[in-house]
Amino acid sequence: METGAIPVITIDGPSASGKGTVAQLVAEKLAFHYLDSGALYRLIALIAIRSNTEPTNESAIANIALHLDVNFDGSSIRLNGENVSDAIRTEACSKLASIIASQPKVRNALLQRQRAFRQLPGLVTDGRDMGSVVFPDASLKIFLTASAEERAQRRYKQLIEKGINANIQSLLQDIYERDTRDSNRDVSPLKQGVNTKLLDTTLLSIEEAVNEVLRLYDQICKN
Ligand code: DC
Repeated sequence: METGAIPVITIDGPSASGKGTVAQLVAEKLAFHYLDSGALYRLIALIAIRSNTEPTNESAIANIALHLDVNFDGSSIRLNGENVSDAIRTEACSKLASIIASQPKVRNALLQRQRAFRQLPGLVTDGRDMGSVVFPDASLKIFLTASAEERAQRRYKQLIEKGINANIQSLLQDIYERDTRDSNRDVSPLKQGVNTKLLDTTLLSIEEAVNEVLRLYDQICKN
């Protein structure tokens, strides 16, 4: 079977929109594979921090991207065998991931690796350019978003539940900064692409958002 015939659902959108949770649940319901493409940028950031690689050294960062030894094992992410699922979620990693994601060499270095996740019976993936660049022929493309205030609230709740101190104003500020950087970069900027359905989850629960994606996919399968 040609890879083009393997179904792909792309869920792109801004930070803290809940797209990862929704994508993972949709993948589970359909028994599809799941790719968290943001994790790849975070892993590169983690390695750059640990190896003191200068973020502006594009070739060195792209080299890290080419040689990533990563293993997605259910919900845990392993780098050279080490479980780094939490280590890649720190604010330092989030910030650096967003900076290096603006480098074309890094994005190119990740292209084939991301496309290799397209395997039977299908793939659900989330990120910023999954529908526009990585899988332009996806069966269903979603742009999942929520207001910045709602996203800051959700992140705040998550952190407090984990026992981590958080400040809503500074979270909101971080979200604005990351949105601006991700949306205004020259390569693969974050935006709703063509043939992409907008799903605003500001007033939706996770379950409602998941059901809406499944409904849209079902509609496509029937046509
Ligand atoms: O989805 P996330 O917050 O884990 O992504 C981390 C960073 O990586 C974010 O600043 C945007 C960037 N990213 C990207 O540019 N393209 C993707 N496909 C996924 C993430």
